[in-house]
Amino acid sequence: MIKQAIIPLAGLGTRMLPLTSIMPKELLPINGKPNLEYILEECLDAGVKQFIFIISKKKMNIKKYFYNDIFYKKLLKKKKDKRIEKEYRKLKKYRKMIKFVYQNQPKGTGDAVLKCSNYIKGKYFLMLLPDDLIIKKNCTKEMIRLHKQKKGSVIGTKIVPKKNVSRWGILSFKKKKKNSFQITDVVEKPKLKDAKSNYAIIGRYILPKKIMNEIKKLKPGQGKEIHITDAIKNLILKNEKFYGNIFKGKYLDCGTLNGYIKSGIEISKENR
Ligand code: G1P
Repeated sequence: MIKQAIIPLAGLGTRMLPLTSIMPKELLPINGKPNLEYILEECLDAGVKQFIFIISKKKMNIKKYFYNDIFYKKLLKKKKDKRIEKEYRKLKKYRKMIKFVYQNQPKGTGDAVLKCSNYIKGKYFLMLLPDDLIIKKNCTKEMIRLHKQKKGSVIGTKIVPKKNVSRWGILSFKKKKKNSFQITDVVEKPKLKDAKSNYAIIGRYILPKKIMNEIKKLKPGQGKEIHITDAIKNLILKNEKFYGNIFKGKYLDCGTLNGYIKSGIEISKENR
């Protein structure tokens, strides 16, 4: 059973400036709720019991969001407010499930995962990138189902327009079925002419604990960062089974300012 989810939160959020100059992008509200809470809800609904948040000293506000007790206690003493009480209870419930680890240099997703090495208990764990929001269907739940069936690692994927492939990690595959395929290769942000497909990684992963050893061997790749994509590629070369879960629900890319604005509009339409 997969019960742990890693959430890398140490990124600088430069694509979202000026909004992120003082506020972590994961706390920016989307239709009245921080981006991060959508991710937590997706995981809770899929049966996750523990979150490992990778933050940095610059992103301490994320911890504070869950640990602002003095503020809430004072406020609730003065003012009995049912809505605030409920929200505070929810934050306290979440924080019991969160472990914070630190990545003070933004050295990439691979490096972030490695920081969690000592805390991973099972053979597999989840990783969710909070720039990728998923609504309507639960991608994590679907992936856990596929993992149980195939007993291998799983990556959430979706077809993207061909001209945009260099924004994503792109998958090559064989034995494609309606909702899944076996992955034969993965390339981080390929040039259009080099892309083997337009199936993109959408920031949802079920990874084997043994990936930690692969990450340790990596040299910095694109943008001088250590990419999880490169560790996955090497594991596939060593015959580790990875499957693509073709996600058919609504996917929103909130990692850019434009995407963030669009996500707010889309989610408010859903909740109308
Ligand atoms: C990361 C991954 C990439 C994936 C993308 C999904 O890129 O490295 O493989 O397709 O998330 O959002 P980033 O968005 O950090 O540039």
